[in-house]
Amino acid sequence: MKIPPVKGTRDFYPPQMNRRNWIIDGWKSASLRNGFEEYDGPIFEHLQMYQIKSGDEIAEQLFSLKDRGGRDLAIRPEITPTLARMVNQQINTLARPIKWFSVPRLCRAERPQKGRLREFFQWNVDVIGVDDVLADAEVIFCAVDYLRQVGLTPDDIVVKISSRKMLAELLIELGLEESQLEPVYAVLDKRAKLPEDVFEKLLAEQVSDGDRREKILSLMEAESVEKISEIVEPDRKAAEAIEEMSRLFEILDRMQIGQFCKFDTSIVRGLAYYTGIVYEIHDKAGRLRAIAGGGRYDNLLKQFGGPDVSATGFGMGDSVLEILLEEKGLIGKEVEQRSIDYFIAFADSKYRDKAIETASKIRLAGMSANFSYKTAGLGKQFKEAAAQNARKVVIIGQEIEAGQLAVKDMAAGQQQTVTAEEFFRKL
Ligand code: HAM
Repeated sequence: MKIPPVKGTRDFYPPQMNRRNWIIDGWKSASLRNGFEEYDGPIFEHLQMYQIKSGDEIAEQLFSLKDRGGRDLAIRPEITPTLARMVNQQINTLARPIKWFSVPRLCRAERPQKGRLREFFQWNVDVIGVDDVLADAEVIFCAVDYLRQVGLTPDDIVVKISSRKMLAELLIELGLEESQLEPVYAVLDKRAKLPEDVFEKLLAEQVSDGDRREKILSLMEAESVEKISEIVEPDRKAAEAIEEMSRLFEILDRMQIGQFCKFDTSIVRGLAYYTGIVYEIHDKAGRLRAIAGGGRYDNLLKQFGGPDVSATGFGMGDSVLEILLEEKGLIGKEVEQRSIDYFIAFADSKYRDKAIETASKIRLAGMSANFSYKTAGLGKQFKEAAAQNARKVVIIGQEIEAGQLAVKDMAAGQQQTVTAEEFFRKL
C-alpha cells in the first residue's frame, strides 16, 4: 500500500533542503548581526495556550492531541505564546532588553494553497521589555535588512505600517464598544482575502449601523493622517498614537529603510494580542499573501500570568518568501546544488585504500571530501566529482609511490603535482 504525504506538507529532498538551509542561514545571520540571540521551545504546548489570546482564527487551525494522561495539547501554530511563557518563567533573571530570535517549525490546519501550508518555518524576531517605538523600528529593520541582503528592493516589497492603538481610538470615537474591537479587527484583517460581499456580510454582523460601517471602510482606505481627520477628528489618545507612528517613520528613515515603509491603515493583523504598531510586509504587486507580519503586544506576558512587560516582534514564513524570491530570480539552481571541497579519485583500484585514507585525512582536517564507492575509470570518477560540484579533485596514481599526488582545480581547470606531505600541510 502506497501512503501519500499529508496535504500541505513538504518533503525536503537534498536540493530543497539546500534551499531551506540557505533561507534559514540568511535569517540567522541577519538576526545575529542585529544583536538578537537564538532560542527555541517545544513543538507542542498545552492547548489552552493558544486559546487565551491568539484569536479564533488560530484556535480553529490547531492540530490538537491528547496525551496519555488525558491532557489537551496542541502543536505550535506560532511561537509567540511560547516566547511569552518562557520569558515569564525567568523574567527576574533575564537581562533586558530581551532581543531574541527563533526559526520554529509550525503547523496550522489551514486549507493548503499558494504560500499557505499546513507545516512551515517561520523566522521570529522579538524585543521584550522596551516600550519605545525604537524597538519596533529595530525589528522592522532586521526584517528589511535580511530582505535587502537577498536582493529585494523597494520596487519588490513594502512594509505596510499602521497602529492598532490609533485604530482602536478612532473606532471608539465612531461609537464602537471596547468589546467589539477584537471581533472587528478579525473581520477587517480578512478583507483582502475575501470576496467583497462575504466581507461586507461579516462586517455587518459585527457593526449593524451602515453609516458606521461606511466610515470604518473609509478609514481603512485613508492614505494619510489628513484623510483620517476628514473622517473622524482624532481625539487626544488617537493623536498620541499618530504621533508615535510618525516617530517610528522618522527612525526608519534614519535607519535608511524609509523607502521600504508606508503608512497603511488597512493593516490590522489577525492575531488578537496586538496592542500598538502593527505591520505586514507584502510583495509590491500585492499578488501574494503577506511575507511577514508583526507588531507590538504589550499585554501578552501579563495575560500569561507574568508582569506588565511590553513586547514587539514579527514572524516571516519561508513559503511566500520563497515564491517571491523565485519570481524575482533571486533564488537559483546554485542554491540547490551541493558542493564539496575535495573529490579523491584513484587511477587504479590498487590505490583505492590510499584514496580512502586521503579522504579521511582531509575530513579530519575539517574540510569535506568524497570518493567513489565503485572502482570505475578516472573519467567516470571525474563525472561523479562534477556531479557533486567538487572544487578540487585529488588524483591518486602511480606517483603516490614516490609520495606525490595530483590536484586539479575544477574551476580553473589546472592540474598540479605536489608531494603528499605538502598537500596535507597546506590543508
Ligand atoms: P502571522 O501573521 O500569523 O503572525 O504569521 C506571520 C507570517 O508567517 C505570515 O505573514 C506568513 O508569511 C507566515 N505564515 C503564517 N501562516 C502560514 C501558513 N499556513 N503557511 C505558510 N506561511 C504562513 C504570527 O505568527 C505572529 N506570532 C508573529 C509575531 C511574532 N508577532 C509578534 N512576534
